[in-house]
Amino acid sequence: MEETKRVAKLSEEEEAHAEVEIWNYIFGFAKMAVAKCAIELGIPDAVGSHEIPISLTELSSVLGCEPSRLHRIMRFLVHFQVFKEKATSQGTTGYIQTPLSRRMMKQGENSMAALILLETSPVMLAPWHHLSDHVSSGTFPFVAAHSVDVWSYTARDASHSNLIDEAMACGARAAVPAIINGCPEVFDGIGSLVDVGGGNGTTLRMLVKAFPWIKGINFDLPHVVSVAPELDSIKKIGGDMFHSVPKADAAFLMWCLHDWDDEECIKILKNCREAIPVEKGKVIIAEAVIGEEREEDDKLDFVRLMLDMVMMAHTSKGKERTLKEWDYVLTRAGFRRYNIRHIRAASSLIEAFP
Ligand SMILES: C[S@@+](CC[C@H](N)C(=O)[O-])C[C@H]1O[C@@H](n2cnc3c(N)ncnc32)[C@H](O)[C@@H]1O
Repeated sequence: MEETKRVAKLSEEEEAHAEVEIWNYIFGFAKMAVAKCAIELGIPDAVGSHEIPISLTELSSVLGCEPSRLHRIMRFLVHFQVFKEKATSQGTTGYIQTPLSRRMMKQGENSMAALILLETSPVMLAPWHHLSDHVSSGTFPFVAAHSVDVWSYTARDASHSNLIDEAMACGARAAVPAIINGCPEVFDGIGSLVDVGGGNGTTLRMLVKAFPWIKGINFDLPHVVSVAPELDSIKKIGGDMFHSVPKADAAFLMWCLHDWDDEECIKILKNCREAIPVEKGKVIIAEAVIGEEREEDDKLDFVRLMLDMVMMAHTSKGKERTLKEWDYVLTRAGFRRYNIRHIRAASSLIEAFP
């Protein structure tokens, strides 16, 4: 009898949870869309640069926005704790920033604005409409939406290529401090480091600053490195990682292998292995490891699963990998041993030795 009651209570709780949770599936996109709107209007920057609480009237005038519509946007963002309300010196309601709104500012150490703008861009949203076709018949969502794959698209569209570089730099700003603080010893004794698919060089700039003995090589497609900023102690080389990788003591790959299927990954990893010395070289990979139990409180598990869906929508055959899948590609690429370190980020750090 007790068991029957317990089962009935559980199903009642599940029903109540579903009644609420279903709305996240119906209107979940609204959070992303309003964040995009706030970034485009410069709301987080305007609130952040005001030293005291900013009233709706002041905010409307700074942004040149119609107050009643802006009020509705602010009410939404306050509800979801992007901003807080605080009384102004005139006793009216004002807005102040929070750690979340700081991450939506266009510039700054914590800015994730470009990543939000990339993921909400029409180019990146269109492939999601083809996800079910991909699962049933294997057509590539990005190709179905745009006729070419994402890298061919970026090669011919400089502004989208720039948006991807800026967005990846946001990811780097979130992950690289966790690497630097979590396992600095990984970079001991490395004289030169090639960042394969290094984008605009943000990752390498942070690594070289933290470990100044490293000479960095930023290696990416020619159209990417040609517009990447010139940086001291970082050499830029344009090329194709499927052909060869520039020589260095160690190769680094972040959010790069997940864009490709196992055979493509094995090819890239073999080229990295050839680029480093056999005795003391290593390949350092910063990528998600799906489904791994972590000792510390891990709140980013959902991010890894979301990234896997993003790979499905935006790349042709990319995916996030489980430990077993990493083992397969690393072993097939000829690495004798590897270790995995969990850091305070969605990615883990894999060191692979030739
Ligand atoms: C998802 S981004 C990661 C960027 C960077 N590692 C980061 O985490 O900020 C993948 C990078 O791989 C580069 N890429 C794609 N195909 C490539 C190729 N065949 N050779 C070299 N780089 C390539 C892209 O241009 C892009 O910068």
